[in-house]
Amino acid sequence: MKHLLKLMDLSTQEITHLLDLGDQLKYMQSHHIPHRRLEGKTLGMIFQKSSTRTRVSFETGMYHLGGTALFLSSRDLQIGRGEPVEDTARVLSRYLDGIMIRTYQQAEVEALTQYGQIPVINGLTDFCHPCQVLADLMTIREYKGDLSGLKVCYIGDGNNMANSLIVGCLKMGMKIALATPAGYQPAPQVLQFAAQHPNDFSLCQNPLEAAQGAHVVFTDVWASMGQEEETAKRQEVFAGYQINHQLLEHCAPDVMVQHCLPAHRGEEITSEVFEQHAKEIFDEAENRLHIQKAVLVELMS
Ligand code: CP
Ligand code: NVA
Repeated sequence: MKHLLKLMDLSTQEITHLLDLGDQLKYMQSHHIPHRRLEGKTLGMIFQKSSTRTRVSFETGMYHLGGTALFLSSRDLQIGRGEPVEDTARVLSRYLDGIMIRTYQQAEVEALTQYGQIPVINGLTDFCHPCQVLADLMTIREYKGDLSGLKVCYIGDGNNMANSLIVGCLKMGMKIALATPAGYQPAPQVLQFAAQHPNDFSLCQNPLEAAQGAHVVFTDVWASMGQEEETAKRQEVFAGYQINHQLLEHCAPDVMVQHCLPAHRGEEITSEVFEQHAKEIFDEAENRLHIQKAVLVELMS
C-alpha cells in the first residue's frame, strides 16, 4: 500500500491487516505501551472543508506515534489563491513525510500522488471517505466478532459515505442493502463494482425493505459539505429516510447503529435512537484515531 485514496484500491487482505493493526495500536494506547513508530516524521493535513474528528484524530495520532502534524487550511495556503495542486504537491514532498487531504474532487487527491513523492491519505472527498469506513469496519468487528456474513443497511443519500461503505462491506464478505431516493444513488463506478456481488448487494427506495434483518444500520446527513444551498430541497426529498424505532423493528434484534457524525437529530436519525445507541456511535468516532494510526504506520514507517 503506497497511498489511501479509496477502498476500491485495497485488497481484502490489506483491509484486514489495517483492522488488525488498528486493534493492536488501540490495545497499546489503552495499556500505556509506547508505540512511537513515526518518530521525527511530519504529516501535512490540507483541509478545504470543515472537520472535527478527522483533524483531531490525525493530529493526536501523529503525536502518539512520535511525529508531528501540521494543520494546513486552504484558506491560508496559496492553493486557496490558485496555486496548482501539482506545484503544491512537489513543494510539500520536499518538507513532509505524508499528506492527508480533505477536499471536493477525488481527482485532486489522485493528482497529489502523481506529482508528489510521499504517501497521500484521503480524508474525505465528494466521492468517498475511506478512513471513516475503515473505522466503521473496526467498530463492527469489535462488537460482532466477525464481519463475514453480516448484513449492513444504509438509509439516505448515495454520497461519499455510501460509496465507501458499499466497497468496504463487499470486500469484507458482508451483505449491504441501501435505500436511497430516486436520483440520489451511489456513484456509477461503485454500482459497477457492486454488480459483481449480486448476492450481497441491493439498492431500493424503501427504507423498511433495506432494513429487513440488518445487523448494522448506517445513515449520514441529508446534505453534505458543499451542498448547503440544497438543504431545503433535500429535507423534502429525504423526509422518509430516517433511522427511527419503527425502522429498527425490521432489523435483527441486536442491531447496531452507526453514524459517521456530525448528526442532525430529527432528520436522518431520531434523538431517541441516537441516544440509545450513543455508546457504539462514539466508539465508532474513537476508532477513527486507532485505525488512522494504523494507516499512518502502514504508509509512513
Ligand atoms: N466523520 C467525520 O469525518 O467527521 P469530521 O467531518 O468532523 O472530520
Ligand atoms: N457526507 C458527509 C460526511 C461528513 C463526515 C459530508 O461529506 O459532509
